[in-house]
Amino acid sequence: MLEVTGLSRAFGGLKAVDGVSLTVPEGRIVSLIGPNGAGKTTCFALITGFHRPDEGRVVFRGRDITGWKPHRIAALGMVRTFQIVQPFAGQTVRENIAVGAHMHLRERDAALAKAEEVADAVGLGDRLGVDAADLTVAGRKRLEVARALATDPKLLLLDEVMAGLNPSEIRDVIPVIRAIRDRGVTILLIEHVMQAVMELSEHTWVLNQGRLIAEGPPRDVARDGQVIAAYLGPGMAERLAHA
Ligand SMILES: Nc1ncnc2c1ncn2[C@@H]1O[C@H](COP(=O)(O)OP(=O)(O)O)[C@@H](O)[C@H]1O
Ligand SMILES: [Mg+2]
Repeated sequence: MLEVTGLSRAFGGLKAVDGVSLTVPEGRIVSLIGPNGAGKTTCFALITGFHRPDEGRVVFRGRDITGWKPHRIAALGMVRTFQIVQPFAGQTVRENIAVGAHMHLRERDAALAKAEEVADAVGLGDRLGVDAADLTVAGRKRLEVARALATDPKLLLLDEVMAGLNPSEIRDVIPVIRAIRDRGVTILLIEHVMQAVMELSEHTWVLNQGRLIAEGPPRDVARDGQVIAAYLGPGMAERLAHA
């Protein structure tokens, strides 16, 4: 569904993303992990048209979309969420989600109906009339997913949607993400919560200083010496081995 080849982008002298090639097969949940500053979010920005790559190609659903603008990529079926959630304050949850739905649905009523359906899917069904600014952190994260989902994506890129959530909120959101995949949406997720990475993704890619250093099933990757040295640390690796 997504094939990224040799993707690179420098900011000044810093190679934020350096020759990254990865694939996401249709119908899967795939993850991208690595330490802070590794270039994960920049990868998402390059893939979804928010930044232009210096080098490399992005092929989505068989089309070379390198250099396309985000709205055109979204219309073809790929959207990302943002790590820093910025809902439209003064607007309800329903209205916030309907903004995403408007991409395909011109009619206001149809967009609002779509918003309600999507709100149910992410567990915000009882929050539709609430001002988006009044949501908890966990609620805002769900809203961010809902806004993306309302555009009817084929591929959804989730950027740390579990950051800032407590363990019980994380447990609650894992089945929500799995259910989105079960609706037919392929998912690529950036996540630091290793428990979620292990439970959700069949394949993981590990980025460090702009470069991929490992890939494979999360369990295998968590035993990789380079991944332990660059990211997990021996303590976490030990805990994951016995999880
Ligand atoms: N717009 C930008 N301008 C300059 N430097 C940036 C920009 N975006 C990201 N960077 C730098 O690129 C590196 C990778 O950042 P990022 O992709 O956000 O990493 P991650 O999401 O893995 O934490 C970091 O060193 C960051 O400071
Ligand atoms: Mg990031």
